[in-house]
Amino acid sequence: MIRIPVSASRDYRVLIERGLLDHAGEEIRAVTKAEAAALVAGKNVFPLYGERVRRSLEAAGLQVIPYVIEAGEGAKSLENYGSLLRFLSENRLSRSDVLVALGGGVTGDLTGFAAATYQRGIDFVQIPTTLLAMVDSSVGGKTAVNLETGKNQVGAFYQPAVVLCDPDVLKTLPEEEYRCGSAEVLKYGVLGNAAFFEELCRRPIREQEEHVIETCVCMKRDIVHEDEYDRGQRQLLNLGHSFGHAVEACSGFSILHGQAVAIGMALIARAAAAKGYCDQETVERLTAALRDYGLPTETDFSLKELAAAMALDKKRTGSTMHLVVPEAIGRCRILAVPVSEIPDWLRAGGAV
Ligand code: NAD
Ligand code: GLY
Repeated sequence: MIRIPVSASRDYRVLIERGLLDHAGEEIRAVTKAEAAALVAGKNVFPLYGERVRRSLEAAGLQVIPYVIEAGEGAKSLENYGSLLRFLSENRLSRSDVLVALGGGVTGDLTGFAAATYQRGIDFVQIPTTLLAMVDSSVGGKTAVNLETGKNQVGAFYQPAVVLCDPDVLKTLPEEEYRCGSAEVLKYGVLGNAAFFEELCRRPIREQEEHVIETCVCMKRDIVHEDEYDRGQRQLLNLGHSFGHAVEACSGFSILHGQAVAIGMALIARAAAAKGYCDQETVERLTAALRDYGLPTETDFSLKELAAAMALDKKRTGSTMHLVVPEAIGRCRILAVPVSEIPDWLRAGGAV
């Protein structure tokens, strides 16, 4: 088993092993004194893995209370958050019990935020079932729900008690969702690990899942250790996200998060080259890798639409926005850009 210690406001470990779902109960027992576990899973994931996790939790002596949520970004709503809290209260979950998030980033973000706020904080465990959630969202403690005005507008930094990654579950992940995770994996190579980027170009992620998850988690762990509350270096993880969130919002969330991040990375790389921060070869290597992984690199949304969506982005601080700008594969810088110059960056990235 791969064990990665994370040191943040709460210390915990990320465990990676095929078949780990069947030992989830033991691993959760090792980190909490809970008597009951609310097992939160999406309606696609519960039928696939819910009973296995439930059996494992029960075998470890936990009373299991399942809670099934809708699939997709719509689940991260204030309404669903309120319903989950009411469910926990009606089922008498106490502060010493535990929430278990079994699913992708949507389930993890919603469950994590409920855990952060229910009775002022209850332990929670992440069992990520998408590639994106394994390499990114399950680690680092960002939890949130959306408002009509934007994604992740209400949330908390709240670290899990343990993260359990079982790469076997990726076998059932739809191809399109797997590609979305690949975008986030490539992101790690571009933002800080050129050798890893090369490995991803030489050998498909599918053939090296444990190594890929371990490498990404270790990179994220190091960034979170330095800047848990996202005031500096952690913003590097937003590579492709400023423009990506705008693409996602313009599409009414029909473009998936990872696809939007891929478009966002290509856009910011083109803009960076046009403005002299990186060379054209960096753009070409990045866009070729994205395409090889079946990801989009262009958007049809207009400059005006994208700029309007970006004005609502929570990464804006007053009249400034921090863009993560590639300087080379494996090196990015965080640039404070006046909001008034964002349309110019979008134009430089190819938006019209
Ligand atoms: P998701 O949670 O919506 O899951 C994608 C789809 O795959 C869903 O339909 C789900 O039911 C299905 N699915 C999940 N696991 C499966 C499996 N093993 N087999 C079959 N189907 C499976 O999407 P996601 O890409 O995991 O997460 C996206 C969310 O994560 C967004 O809301 C984004 O804002 C958030 N996010 C959070 C952070 C963070 O740090 N907290 C980081 C990145 C992204
Ligand atoms: N996914 C961005 C972060 O965790 O900071």
